[in-house]
Amino acid sequence: MKLFTLATMLSLSLAAQAVAEATPIDVKKTNGCGCCLAWMEHLEENGFVPKGEDMFAGLLVRFKLDNGVPQRMVSCHTGLVEGYVIEGHVPAEDIRRLLSERPDAVGLAVPDMPLGSPGMDQSRWREAYDVFLINNDGSTEVFSSYPGD
Ligand code: CU
Ligand code: CU
Repeated sequence: MKLFTLATMLSLSLAAQAVAEATPIDVKKTNGCGCCLAWMEHLEENGFVPKGEDMFAGLLVRFKLDNGVPQRMVSCHTGLVEGYVIEGHVPAEDIRRLLSERPDAVGLAVPDMPLGSPGMDQSRWREAYDVFLINNDGSTEVFSSYPGD
């Protein structure tokens, strides 16, 4: 009985911890975008709770530009998390770093869709790519770099 109570308390506190750490993120995407869903799965595996919303392609582009994503940073989907914009196949660990450092900026972007980035990892090789920080004035700087193979 004692053991049961301890186990129950332990599992309850673990569950509470998981809920506390789960971070909701809204993902605007187009219908039928498979790599968008794969990226959302990557987020889910890393403690985020992604909620997808399909938009017409034209409206999605408008949404990106309205939310401060420069044209040269555009990718397939656009995430919104705690006031930041996450454009494209940005790794979960970079989003975590953004949320802990909390710079005064628009958010992060991985332009285009590099092979080997999260959600684009179906291929056997990966290309090198950078994650960019988008500043409020539209300028960008390298936030992190991932090597190819
Ligand atoms: Cu994609
Ligand atoms: Cu996508």
